[in-house]
Amino acid sequence: MAVNTQTWWQKGRVAECDELAEGVRRIVLCPDRPVHAAPGTHVDLRLDLDGHARKRSYSVVRSEDGGRRLTLGVQLAPTSRGGSRHMHGLEVGDVVEMTGPVQSFPLGVGADRYVLVAGGIGITALVAMAETLRRRGADYTLVLAGRSRRVMAYLDHLVDTHGDRVRVFVDDEDVRLDVESLVGEVAGSPAATRTEMYMCGPIRLMDAIRRAWAAHDLPEPNLRFETFGSSGAWAAEDFVVHLPQLDRSVHVSRDSSMLDALEDAGVEVMWDCRKGECGICQVKVLDVSGRIDHRDVFLSQQQKEAYASLCLCVARAARGDSESGSADPAAVTLHLP
Ligand code: FES
Repeated sequence: MAVNTQTWWQKGRVAECDELAEGVRRIVLCPDRPVHAAPGTHVDLRLDLDGHARKRSYSVVRSEDGGRRLTLGVQLAPTSRGGSRHMHGLEVGDVVEMTGPVQSFPLGVGADRYVLVAGGIGITALVAMAETLRRRGADYTLVLAGRSRRVMAYLDHLVDTHGDRVRVFVDDEDVRLDVESLVGEVAGSPAATRTEMYMCGPIRLMDAIRRAWAAHDLPEPNLRFETFGSSGAWAAEDFVVHLPQLDRSVHVSRDSSMLDALEDAGVEVMWDCRKGECGICQVKVLDVSGRIDHRDVFLSQQQKEAYASLCLCVARAARGDSESGSADPAAVTLHLP
C-alpha cells in the first residue's frame, strides 16, 4: 500500500478556529503549498514550546479545495506536553510551520467490510475515512466511544451523515463499548477475514482491541491504527532518566517527552515516527523505580510487561500505584551507549 511522506516544511496560516465540542477546537490551516490530504493523513506542526521547537502531529479531518484548507480538530489535553495548549491559543491570522499531508494510516480498497473505531478525539483520524467509505457505497460501521457527548467532536454531524451505520457508546450514560463483543462480532461474521478495522483512540482501547483481535485469530494486517502517543495509563508526571553508560541523569518534566528531554540535554538518540509506532527509538531498560507507562503500539503486551525495553518517544516513568506516599520522582535506568 502506498504511503506518502511529504515532510517538507512550509508556512500555514490559521484561517478559522472555533469550538467543536467541550475542550476541542477546530482549526483550519491554509498552507503555502497546498496538496490534497487523503483520508488517514496527518500534518506535523513545528511548535515553539518553552523555547524549544517541538513536532506535534494532528490528523487532517477535512481537506478542501485541493488542500488549500485543511481542518484539524485539537483536544486540550489535561496532561498536555504543551502542544494542545499552544494550538488552543492560536488565533485567525497566526502563521505556523507545518508539513504537507503525511500518510501513515491509509484506507485500503476492496475489503468486504470496514469497521472504524474512534475513542474520544481519535475520531479526527476517521471522519474523512467514513466519508470516503460512504461515497464508495462500502459496507462500513463507525463506532464512536467517549466519556460524554459534551466532549465528543463531530458526534451530531456523523450521526446525521452516516445514520444507522454509527454506533455510539458514552461512558457517562453507562453505554460502554464492549471490545470483546465488537471484535467477536467481526470474527463470527461470514466476512471475518475480509473485514478491516481502523482504530484511533487511547492506548488502552487500542491494546484491548489488539488483544481481542489476536485472540480471535483474525488476520493481523486487517487491523490498523493511528496513534499520537498522547495517552497513557497514568497522568504524565516528572521523572528522571539515568544513563549509566554516559554517567548522566536527565530530568523529564511532565510537559516533555523522554526523547525531547534527552535531545535537549545533548544526548543522541535515534527516532523516526515519534509517536510510538515504528520502534526505532526502542532502548533497553536496566532498572525502574515506579512503573513504566509504555504508551506505544510497537511492543507486544509481553514485552511491555517484562519492563525490558521501552520506546523513548512516548514511554514515561510514573509512580503509579507502586510507591504510594513516596515523594521521590519515578526513575528509569536505560542502556544508552
Ligand atoms: S520514534 Fe517511532 S516508536 Fe519512537
